[in-house]
Amino acid sequence: MDLKPFLTTKFVGKHFVFFDSVDSTNRIAHDLAEQGIDEGTVICADHQTAGHGRQGRQWFSPPERNLYFSVILAPKQAAIQVSQLSLVAGVAIATTLQKYLGEDKKVGIKWPNDVWIDQKKCCGILCEMVNAGNIETQRLIIGIGVNINLAKKEIPAELKEISTSLFIEIEEITYLSREIILAQFLQELETRYLQWQQQGLGAILTEWDSFSILHQKNIVADMPSGKITGEVLGLSPEGCLRLRLSTGEEQTVSAGDIHILSISSK
Ligand code: BTN
Repeated sequence: MDLKPFLTTKFVGKHFVFFDSVDSTNRIAHDLAEQGIDEGTVICADHQTAGHGRQGRQWFSPPERNLYFSVILAPKQAAIQVSQLSLVAGVAIATTLQKYLGEDKKVGIKWPNDVWIDQKKCCGILCEMVNAGNIETQRLIIGIGVNINLAKKEIPAELKEISTSLFIEIEEITYLSREIILAQFLQELETRYLQWQQQGLGAILTEWDSFSILHQKNIVADMPSGKITGEVLGLSPEGCLRLRLSTGEEQTVSAGDIHILSISSK
């Protein structure tokens, strides 16, 4: 895969490492990040044999169809702020995909950063920190899998009801260029990363909210401390999910998986 002809960024993706097949691009990125590799390095593969997602789930990674890549960033902010970059990445990918869908269909983000089209997941993001706690050497790995050219019949039975691809949603007959989509995403990411560094999360929260599929939804959050149920009120200025519990109390959720129950009765 040759990204160069399409790349418009200042630094993200300038160092681009492509593999035909790897276990996981996040695993490779992890090793390189430990060695202090340049900020903006992107590790990409045509195929993953052990692609994985949040909560130890597998990520379906067949060859010749999709994008699997990991971006290495070196933010100098404290870890709690760095975790906001998972929202930044979600907005960057949603913006990239929306441009392909035009007005017809709306890309949605399910907190923190699952990207959906038409109630099915099209992209997943797994962020991992390396050397956390040392501002100088810490690295953030943003691992992204996007279903690009996957046809309906190629989706395994157990994922059919919950997964989709850009190719399916825009009802294409020819394959989309993965190189061009990746280059466009890297530009969207770099722009927002620089904006986040200079101005914080503010403007990105507004964008995130415009993609959110959680407005007024009742959800269950699976937190390390147990499950909580509540109505989504939006995001806090730090990017945490604000919930109203049945007791009327407000609680914020900073990490974990969520499941949508219903639209709020209010
Ligand atoms: C999720 O939705 O749970 C996150 C999925 C992340 C998958 C990507 S594919 C590229 C990178 N390498 C991995 O092993 N995982 C991420």
